[in-house]
Amino acid sequence: MTTNLSPTLGLYNIAKITAGEQEVSVSWEDGNVTTYDSLWLRDNIPENRDPRNGQRLVSIADIPAEPKIESAHAADSQLTITWKDGKTAHFDCHWLRAHDSSLSIDTGFKRLPWTADELPEFFWADHDQVASNQDLRRDWLAAIVRDGLAFLRNVPIEEETVLRVASWIGFVRETNYGKLFDVRAVAHPNNLAFTSLGLPAHTDNPYRDPVPGLQLLHCLTTSGIGGESLFVDGLAVAETMRRQHAALFDLLVHTPVRFHFEDEKTDLSTERPLIACDLHGRFEGIYYNDRSIAPLLVTPDILRRFYSAYRMLAEMLRSASFNVSILMQPGDLVVFDNTRILHGRTAFEVQNGTRHLQGCYVDKDALNSNLAVLQRKGA
Ligand code: FE2
Repeated sequence: MTTNLSPTLGLYNIAKITAGEQEVSVSWEDGNVTTYDSLWLRDNIPENRDPRNGQRLVSIADIPAEPKIESAHAADSQLTITWKDGKTAHFDCHWLRAHDSSLSIDTGFKRLPWTADELPEFFWADHDQVASNQDLRRDWLAAIVRDGLAFLRNVPIEEETVLRVASWIGFVRETNYGKLFDVRAVAHPNNLAFTSLGLPAHTDNPYRDPVPGLQLLHCLTTSGIGGESLFVDGLAVAETMRRQHAALFDLLVHTPVRFHFEDEKTDLSTERPLIACDLHGRFEGIYYNDRSIAPLLVTPDILRRFYSAYRMLAEMLRSASFNVSILMQPGDLVVFDNTRILHGRTAFEVQNGTRHLQGCYVDKDALNSNLAVLQRKGA
């Protein structure tokens, strides 16, 4: 056992170290205490990674299963560990603190839920400015993460422009609807989206695996009467339901539901919960589309309770407390997270002009990647 009192310089100063064979306990000057396991430290020796790209060079199978610590020492913002087999490694204190598993598990960008009752000012920016200004581009991407949606105005009213804007975020996801899809009333629709009917709030394509992450919709023309776009924050709905009706929320998270779509050339079917949580229990996504939900195959013991939960979710998604309507004008473009924001529209009258939007999908990981790179550049 080694105890070493050795304050270091820098943002995260070590006040005290207590080392045993199996672990090192670091007391930081701000009062936090972090315990680092001997095997974890051995697994994360800096020289085990390529200095040019940070990628790991060794397998866990190459590392001793029970490395025993001989001594630990802190100096010059570094923690030095020597193991009994003679191996020594130096760990940067900032790196150690950034990898403290007892601190926040929130590693992603911040999402802020919103409701119609407590509505933030959504992000709107000029197309040309976002095209040319990197800081504004970063703010636009950050708003898509934060609010789940963001808008551009003065986007050129030209077909396929939506694909060019999509390329600012990532790669377009091509589907059976093509690289882009036209949302307007057509004579023989294979989807109710391509009629003039109103559409309640939904997420797109829950029958697809993976589900499209981001959706872009570019307004080219409006109908004159009706056709307002509806948006609902599924994150806010889910968290409200979790707070107020925890058991029903839990049922939605743990019950698989099948979604199905077919037409002459396509037959897509996937099972997923209506609300998904990640391994930390945090909201991950909502998958809700009345049009494509298949007959429920839920076991009889929970069927009625599941229907109660499903109905409650449907009522909340319909509620004026959560629905926000925006009449998009020609030249407006919205980007939204299709796994968080539900969208819909009011019915419109075809004889008063043709409501025409062009849309496409983009994978969501590209959004986080581009945002991280732009933030790195800004920093
Ligand atoms: Fe849709």
